[in-house]
Amino acid sequence: MADIAESSHSTFPAGFLWGCATSAYQIEGSPLADGAGVSNWHRFVHTPGRVRDGDTGDVACDHYRRWREDVALMRTLGMRAYRFSIAWNRVLPEGRGRVNPEGLAFYDRLVDALLENGIQPMVTLHHWDLPAALDDRGGWLNPDIVDWFVDYARVMFRKLDDRVGLWTTINEPWVVSDGGYLHGVLAPGHRSQFEPPIAAHHLLRAHGAAVQAYRADGRNNIGIVVNLEPKYPASQGADDLAATRRADAYMNRQFLDPVFLGRYPEEMHEVFGDAWPVWPDEDMAQIRQAIDFVGVNYYTRSVVRHDPRRWPQRVSGAPQKHATHTETGWEVYPQGLTDVLKWVSARYGRPPIYITENGAAFYDPPTASDGRIEDPLRVAYLRAHLRAVHAAARQGVDLRGYFVWSLLDNFEWAHGYSKRFGIVHVDYATQQRTPKDSARFYAKVIATHGAALGVTA
Ligand code: BGC
Repeated sequence: MADIAESSHSTFPAGFLWGCATSAYQIEGSPLADGAGVSNWHRFVHTPGRVRDGDTGDVACDHYRRWREDVALMRTLGMRAYRFSIAWNRVLPEGRGRVNPEGLAFYDRLVDALLENGIQPMVTLHHWDLPAALDDRGGWLNPDIVDWFVDYARVMFRKLDDRVGLWTTINEPWVVSDGGYLHGVLAPGHRSQFEPPIAAHHLLRAHGAAVQAYRADGRNNIGIVVNLEPKYPASQGADDLAATRRADAYMNRQFLDPVFLGRYPEEMHEVFGDAWPVWPDEDMAQIRQAIDFVGVNYYTRSVVRHDPRRWPQRVSGAPQKHATHTETGWEVYPQGLTDVLKWVSARYGRPPIYITENGAAFYDPPTASDGRIEDPLRVAYLRAHLRAVHAAARQGVDLRGYFVWSLLDNFEWAHGYSKRFGIVHVDYATQQRTPKDSARFYAKVIATHGAALGVTA
């Protein structure tokens, strides 16, 4: 494309993995096919009023039936890696006990097809869709879920670890606890003051226990995926600075401090007050397992103001009037990605990092007469963020790869199909896939190992 500055000097690390990401419930469809159990998300979307326009994942991108086509598409775009998640309820319909061979076979075939096409799989064990039978027993609030998760993880390790080199345990535990148990906007839809820290703790324990199990059963690499949003104070006033520390503790350090340092941030008690439990030391030791990498999902930053009316954090976001915002209302702030990567690296001892998600929902204009879908805002977003990744790598962050969110337009949770994050357009009426300009741009970045970004040493 003419607007991309060319450079022969890419300083992306050798072996840096270029890929794209999706998750099971957002793309697969056929939620009950081949003996799958019901998931909490299936139940949630079929509860009136939960999802915009009553949208469901019943068909989604029909990937469960079109996976061959989607793997071929990735190959055409030159993807070197693909991050996808397993629907726990396909593999263990009741969440524990009986394994459903047909559910397992779906992911087995997918992994084989990826490898045949030169695409490395990165498997997420839990990307929010939980077997409903486990939700009935308390879901992430029941401490027994740690054992249920480990049993499920073991089934997957034993089946796929001979071919899967990169595993992640939990996708974005903060979103599960905040969206699912505090605000009730995501499954299971609870609104509680007391449940979020409990859910978060069991998510982290499940992560730690699965890593322990992996050390016995697996031979490759395992990590966790967190969504990080760097917090910047709206002013240098003491209230705003304290609010910024609380916001950072709640969203970012609540998860990475236990994983890397074996403790929760001090501010957590300040955030939750009486609702903040005291956890036993052995739980903290279980969470703090050596991991092979950390996955960072980055979309935006937040500029934080003290706001006593907003429980539990007592913060609100200060509007950035002159910035570009995406369709989800998120400020476009590429510098935040460099900042947050440097912060993770400095605070947690320079762990290997994959950017496991980064991307943007924008309104895509109708297909042009030549069949192209022009999405210049998404191209600009990706270019700027990839340059920000490169800047972090140049400043010493141990970066191993980047996965764009998302390969396809898909089911954007409570927003239904109203927000499009794909670099490939999906016509939901016909299921036709059309690569947008951003897909062509990213394909060129991959083919040149980043040189097409115009970054130089
Ligand atoms: C999630 C994705 C989601 C994306 C955009 C992340 O929080 O992992 O499932 O679609 O952000 O909202």
